[in-house]
Amino acid sequence: MAEPDPVPVAPAAASSTEFSFRGGQLCCEAVALAALAQRFGTPLYVYSGAAMDRRLQTVRTAFGPGAHVCYAVKANSNLGVLRRMHAGGAGFDLVSGGELERLCAAGLPTAGAVFAGVAKEPWEIAAAVAADILFFNVESPHELPLLAAAGAAAGRRVRVALRLNPDVDAGTHAYISTGKKENKFGVALDRAGELVAAIRREPWLQLVGYHVHLGSQLQSVDPYVVAFERVATFVAASPLHAEGVTYYDLGGGFGIGYGKGPALDVAAVAAALLPRLAARGWRPVVEPGRFLVGDAGVLLTRVLGNKRQGETRFVLVDAAMNDLVRPALYQAEHPVTRVVPGAGSPQTVDVVGPVCETSDFLARRCLLPPCERGDLLAILAAGAYGASMASNYNTRRRPAEVLVDGDQVRLLRRRETFAAMFADEMPAADGGDGADGGEVVDA
Ligand SMILES: Cc1ncc(COP(=O)(O)O)c(C=O)c1O
Repeated sequence: MAEPDPVPVAPAAASSTEFSFRGGQLCCEAVALAALAQRFGTPLYVYSGAAMDRRLQTVRTAFGPGAHVCYAVKANSNLGVLRRMHAGGAGFDLVSGGELERLCAAGLPTAGAVFAGVAKEPWEIAAAVAADILFFNVESPHELPLLAAAGAAAGRRVRVALRLNPDVDAGTHAYISTGKKENKFGVALDRAGELVAAIRREPWLQLVGYHVHLGSQLQSVDPYVVAFERVATFVAASPLHAEGVTYYDLGGGFGIGYGKGPALDVAAVAAALLPRLAARGWRPVVEPGRFLVGDAGVLLTRVLGNKRQGETRFVLVDAAMNDLVRPALYQAEHPVTRVVPGAGSPQTVDVVGPVCETSDFLARRCLLPPCERGDLLAILAAGAYGASMASNYNTRRRPAEVLVDGDQVRLLRRRETFAAMFADEMPAADGGDGADGGEVVDA
């Protein structure tokens, strides 16, 4: 019998065509999620390789061959995901020495990486200079002498792009807005001239571009255009601001739908910016994170029980805020679906984990058919800022992660073991001197 056509998840959500119902159950590409949960346990992150490839291709096609696409490692920093992004032609946007270490651990080239952050440590700067990354995004004056010293020590001029704060409201959640003047990020345009002059005074520094990252989960083209125009006005104010500039790094922030609508029209962003960049001879750099991996992942979780308190029905599950902190941190809303659709009329429920915090919820006021202990739920669009923000809070092991490619499954990360979790702690039996535990060190 011919297999019926797959039914996409929540068609209105327009999330990811790689997750669809086949034969009555939710699948990632050709693999049933229930089978993955059975084999690897829950909570479990499942990623679709095809979804990542498709999104990366969307960005590369939109911005064209002249653009440099740097995947924002923080969105999902699993080594397997990084290798996938490299295979698709991406460079990397780094925000720590640890992320640079990840590239090295994954055996990936560092030449196409850019490195941002308000306060980089000297060892991080030295490592990135040694790795000869494409450029540093600089936004704090105290970093200039540190970068110059690292360049002098390495005998190499350090390429920098100045991160500007154009004071643009990106219309996103306050915690993920970065381009307004009250945010800690970037250099205000009325101070940027001083920084340009300071960079030009340093023989070991070379100004190669400007960087603007307005925040995350942007839904419209306008903020990108407004920011660009403000930067262009600044650059036009003095030949010193323009000399040697070849890159315009417009940051990331491309929003996705989270079950409520379409993703940002990246082609429209490119169409608005590319002619403006071409007119100045600037090469675009983009730093998408969420857009490339968000819709490519789900968090699978098993129902542990049900509870009713007042008017609220709780579905208690084995995933928690330590596995996916976005709902607690940003009031983020992820669509949730049963992996095997249940019978019975849907009820409004809160899906909550076992962690001892009232903010430990994965979804609130969502409609689900009645769920019983043992049922599987999928938290959708969880591929970005999910696993990479996971913690051990409540001494919970971080989840396993798998990548699906057609009918193939790769384990990208084993479920953490308690032994690994405790390995760097110092119990008394390991050299401590008594009941307090810990290793005795010289004061
Ligand atoms: C400098 C920079 N670039 C890129 C990104 C990626 O953002 P997004 O995942 O929203 O694309 C971030 C996210 O915080 C960032 O700080």
